[in-house]
Amino acid sequence: MARRVCPPWIGYLLLNPLRKLVENPDKMLGQFVRDGMVVLEPGCGMGYFTLALARMVGPGGRVVAVELQGRMLSVLGRRASKAGLSDRIELRQTGAEGLGVDDLSGKVDFAAAIHLVHEIPDQASFFTQIWKALKPGGKLLVVEPKGHVSLDQFEQTVATAKQTGFKRETLPGKEGNRKDLLIRPQI
Ligand SMILES: C[S@@+](CC[C@H](N)C(=O)[O-])C[C@H]1O[C@@H](n2cnc3c(N)ncnc32)[C@H](O)[C@@H]1O
Repeated sequence: MARRVCPPWIGYLLLNPLRKLVENPDKMLGQFVRDGMVVLEPGCGMGYFTLALARMVGPGGRVVAVELQGRMLSVLGRRASKAGLSDRIELRQTGAEGLGVDDLSGKVDFAAAIHLVHEIPDQASFFTQIWKALKPGGKLLVVEPKGHVSLDQFEQTVATAKQTGFKRETLPGKEGNRKDLLIRPQI
């Protein structure tokens, strides 16, 4: 099935500060991210969540922001520089061959795929790449928009992740968008 990739004009809309009312980065991510962590954010767009993640990991941490579209990354780069956070955000442009995160194997504490997975044609390959990048015990937060992704489609996505070996952890407060926490077990 062909998947539509979010165009840059929507990227700008996603930076709207009013979004905080429904998707507050600190509330959504603060419980998972600590000082010094390595965080992977595939499909970062223009970085609505990236700057908040960079603040959470602190000067000793790193956020690897991976994106298909160069335009999204150039806007994120400017925003990171303006916020004085460029030194802890690494921008990576993906190609057709995959996320390009093989070098992170077993190094990532936390990954956040927010409003991304429904745009990915090969979800099994996507989850395998994230699985390899995560440390044992590492976590992946998947958030999908209710308006685009039915419950059945979301369950299919979670089933694909579980086939990779992820364990599903129920999140409290599941109102709003579809979300699940997926864990790479320790063994
Ligand atoms: C709907 S936007 C969400 C952006 C951001 N996560 C947010 O919530 O503000 C989805 C983003 O994923 C990117 N994307 C789509 N397929 C991708 C892929 N295979 N690898 C990396 N990024 C991808 C798109 O270019 C787009 O910027």
